[in-house]
Amino acid sequence: MWKPPERIKYQTSVEGWPTAEEAARSRLYSPLCATNLDLAQRTWVPAMVPWRASDNGDVTQDVIDWYARFAQGKPGAIVVEATGIRDIPSGPLLRISDDRYVAGLRRLTDAVREASDGETRLMIQLIDFLTIRRRPQPDVFFNRFLKITAAHRQRLGMERESEQAIKAQLLTLTDAELEDVLSPRELDALRQGYRERVTDMHLSTIVELPATLPPLFSQAATRAQAAGFDGVELHYAHAYTMASFLSATNTRADGYGGSREHRCRLPLEVYKAVRAAVGDDYAVGCRFLSDEIISTGSHVDDACFFAREFALAGMDFLSLSRGGKFDDAKQPKIGWAAYPYTGQSGYECMPSYVSDQRGPWGRNIEPVAQIRAAIHSAGMRTPIISTGGIYSFDQAETLLAEDKADVVGLARQALADPDWFQKVRLGRGNEVLLCRYSNYCEGLDQKHKQVTCELWDRAALDSSDAVLATDGKRRLTAPQWSP
Ligand SMILES: Cc1cc2nc3c(=O)[nH]c(=O)nc-3n(C[C@H](O)[C@H](O)[C@H](O)COP(=O)(O)O)c2cc1C
Ligand code: SF4
Repeated sequence: MWKPPERIKYQTSVEGWPTAEEAARSRLYSPLCATNLDLAQRTWVPAMVPWRASDNGDVTQDVIDWYARFAQGKPGAIVVEATGIRDIPSGPLLRISDDRYVAGLRRLTDAVREASDGETRLMIQLIDFLTIRRRPQPDVFFNRFLKITAAHRQRLGMERESEQAIKAQLLTLTDAELEDVLSPRELDALRQGYRERVTDMHLSTIVELPATLPPLFSQAATRAQAAGFDGVELHYAHAYTMASFLSATNTRADGYGGSREHRCRLPLEVYKAVRAAVGDDYAVGCRFLSDEIISTGSHVDDACFFAREFALAGMDFLSLSRGGKFDDAKQPKIGWAAYPYTGQSGYECMPSYVSDQRGPWGRNIEPVAQIRAAIHSAGMRTPIISTGGIYSFDQAETLLAEDKADVVGLARQALADPDWFQKVRLGRGNEVLLCRYSNYCEGLDQKHKQVTCELWDRAALDSSDAVLATDGKRRLTAPQWSP
């Protein structure tokens, strides 16, 4: 992963925790009563893919155990990982792309309700993503994928040669020489692996996205409702299709790109289709970016605009992340796909303990506060969830007290210690396992390996509750804690 040049090493520590009485009086442990969103406390576990689904995208017992373990901590809400809405093979990514998934998802919602004694609200994140291929071997790229064009022939001065001769010649060129022959997209496909963009208007499937996506999202949302989820979170963040529509890099000229109004047109149409399908009494929100953290991307002023549009359209919550783009992803090894959390934008999404002067914590707080202020000045009070490097009660309480968010998201901290919410509430914060922001978990995610935390995955391996990962070395859920 990209690291800031300063490479200052930070250690997470907490000065003090509240007593049970202080926690009971706190804003963090006060309820949120908003339209379609009633939380017992203002805490939120944002979506995190743990790679536990079956190869067909079904809920497995490991998926159930994973979320039930979070639910034992009784946070205000949990968002189930990015879940695919298209009925296409997607590896062990959870899917909600057909009615056959509803029964498994129902087992999941039942398990979470039981483990949290009904205290935790459960959402599911709905994702669409475009085709991405692994970085090819150069000979495979030239021989199998590259379409030889007149432009190649002309640039190589080989107008009359056979395709085979041209491909053979391309294979002999250096990286710098290839820059004079291949188009930027072809070079990118060679160096990073082929990846579709929402601006690929030569592809009919891409042109038709504004027609195909609203029904796909709305059918998925209907299934989520049937499976017993309390709401859906539309994934408009990071490197995926909907975020690409919102991005300032979206130059589509068909009314769905260019200006901010046009860039958020499809996200609004998707929302409206979902709302029409699930009715007015169901929680529908989205996750999007406070800043894409790429030079050509959208920044916080764009996010303020989108937030106002989403709030005015009637979304029930807005959850803000940042960065996580393909645009600045590191070159993957041959045979691997690009991973959108390897560049600077990826760093801003999940900052690690090796950081700059600002440190790895709370980097999203101020932009999110600006976005919240923007929707308030439009007269809206849509709950805003702020996430990014939050691990202590004081951080969370301060950002609520200073009106910078309505709900606080703890992703890696909840992974490090799913009992954080209970321990702090009971005045036992000194028992919290603090996240080190090592990104060991994120490294596992990158390899699509079962995600665990280094703080507990080798602990009490012989205890009866320890189910081991396929490598036989790590437990899949945090050891039990008794209040
Ligand atoms: C293993 C892992 C998987 C993640 N998967 C998702 C995901 O499915 N959807 C999403 O919006 N964010 C995902 N994220 C990002 C987190 O939700 C969160 O925004 C990020 O970790 C920063 O918050 P934190 O500092 O509290 O960890 C993932 C993060 C991790 C560590
Ligand atoms: S592995 Fe554990 S300690 Fe390290 S970043 Fe992930 S959750 Fe935090």
